[in-house]
Amino acid sequence: MARTSRFPGFYKVTVQERRALVGEATGADVRDMERALEGGGLDAETADKFVENVIGTYALPYGVALNVRVNGHDRVVPMVTEEPSVVAAASNAAKMVRAGGGFVAEADPPLMIAQIQLHGVPDALAAAAGIREHSEEILKLADRAVGGLVARGGGAREVEARVLADDVVVVHVVVDCRDAMGANLVNSVAEAVADRLAAITGGLIGPRILSNLCDRRCVRVTCVVPAEVLATDEMSGSAVIDGIVNASRFAELDPYRAATHNKGIMNGIDAVVMATGNDWRAVEAGAHAFATRTGRYQPLAVWRRFGEALEGRIELPLALGTVGGTLRVHPAARLSLRMLGVTDAQELAMIAASIGLASNLAAVRALASDGIQRGHMGLHARSVALAAGAAGHLVARVAAMIVEARDITLEGARKAMNVLAAEAGEAASEVDVAD
Ligand code: MEV
Repeated sequence: MARTSRFPGFYKVTVQERRALVGEATGADVRDMERALEGGGLDAETADKFVENVIGTYALPYGVALNVRVNGHDRVVPMVTEEPSVVAAASNAAKMVRAGGGFVAEADPPLMIAQIQLHGVPDALAAAAGIREHSEEILKLADRAVGGLVARGGGAREVEARVLADDVVVVHVVVDCRDAMGANLVNSVAEAVADRLAAITGGLIGPRILSNLCDRRCVRVTCVVPAEVLATDEMSGSAVIDGIVNASRFAELDPYRAATHNKGIMNGIDAVVMATGNDWRAVEAGAHAFATRTGRYQPLAVWRRFGEALEGRIELPLALGTVGGTLRVHPAARLSLRMLGVTDAQELAMIAASIGLASNLAAVRALASDGIQRGHMGLHARSVALAAGAAGHLVARVAAMIVEARDITLEGARKAMNVLAAEAGEAASEVDVAD
C-alpha cells in the first residue's frame, strides 16, 4: 500500500517529478520506473517472445489514479488507457468517495471453472449422477495435473455436472488458482480429467476449457459519498444525488443504456487490468456475461440515495493474477504491482473494481449535472494547448480561453497564445513607460 495517494497539484508537475512523488509514496524505485516506462517498457526482442510475427511494439499512456483508498489503505493505482479524462475522472471520483471513508471491498476466493463437455451421452441424468459419485476420484486426477498449484495451497475443490440436453452433459471442475489468473492451470485440469469423464458417462469428449464466466470469483465494492462533495457550481449535492439515482435507474431499466454505463465502468477496470499485465478480454467477457445473469443485460454498478449521501455498489467477476503470465516478462506490469503494494490477486481485484466504481461515479455525476462533454473538452483543450506549444502555467490559460471561445483547435490555441503574448508585451511596455 502507499503512504498516501493524495498528491494535490500532481497534474501540474513534470513527468519526472511525478515519478519521484509516486516513488516516495509507494517505495517503487524511480530508476525502475524510467526503465519500465520509457518507450512502453518492452523492446522488440522481448516482445518477440510474447507473440508471433513481431515487428515492433505499440505503447499506450501509463497514468496513475490518485486519492484511492480501499478498505482503509491508500493505493496509487496504475492505469493504461488511450482515452483522455479516464484517469482524471477516476481520481476525482475517488476523492469524493474518500470523503465518505473510501471504498469497502470484498473478494471471493480465486475459484475458476474448468468445463468439459460430453456429447452423445446415452443417458444424461444417469451420467450426471455417475459423475457426482466419482467426484473424489476426479478431484484427485485434477490435482495431479497441477501439482505446483496444489503445493502453493490451491487445487481442485468441487465437481459439478450440468445436463444441457438429453445427450449433452457439461462437467465443471472448480479450481482454486491462488494468485494466478488461472487460464493455463484450469485448461490443464480440463484436459486431464476428460478421458475419465468420457468413460464414466459413455459420452464423447467435446471442448475442454476454462469458462470466462468466472462467477465463483466475484468482487464486490461499496461506497458512500456525502452530498456536499457531489455538488457542482450549478447544482446542490442533493440534486446531483437525485440525478445519479435516476441515471442508475435508467441503466437498470434499459439494456441500451446499461451497455454504455458498463462501458464507463470498464474504462477504469480495463486500464488497471492492462497496467498489471492481465487479460482484459477475459475480464470483459466475464463482466458482460455476468451482466446478463438475470436473463436481461443489467448495470454492474447501481446507485441509491442513503439519507443525505449517495451509496454505490458494484459486483462483477474478476479473474486477475499477480503471478505468472505476462507478469514474468513485462517490466511495467511488475512495476505496477510493486507500486500498488498488493499481496495477492484478491487484493488486486478489489482495487480494480473500486476503480470501476469510481469511473462509473464520475460518468453518472457528469451525466446528472453538466453533461459529459464539458469535462472531456476541458482535458482535450489542455492537450490541444500543449500541441500548440503552450508550456507551464500557459497550458491552463490557453485551454480555458479556447474552451470559452468554443474553438478547441490548434488554430484557436495559437490565436489564444498570440493574445496572451500581446498582453504580456503591453504589460512589459507599460512597466517601461512607468520606469
Ligand atoms: C465514455 O468512455 C464512457 C461514458 O459514456 C460512460 C457512461 O455514459 O456512463 C461516459
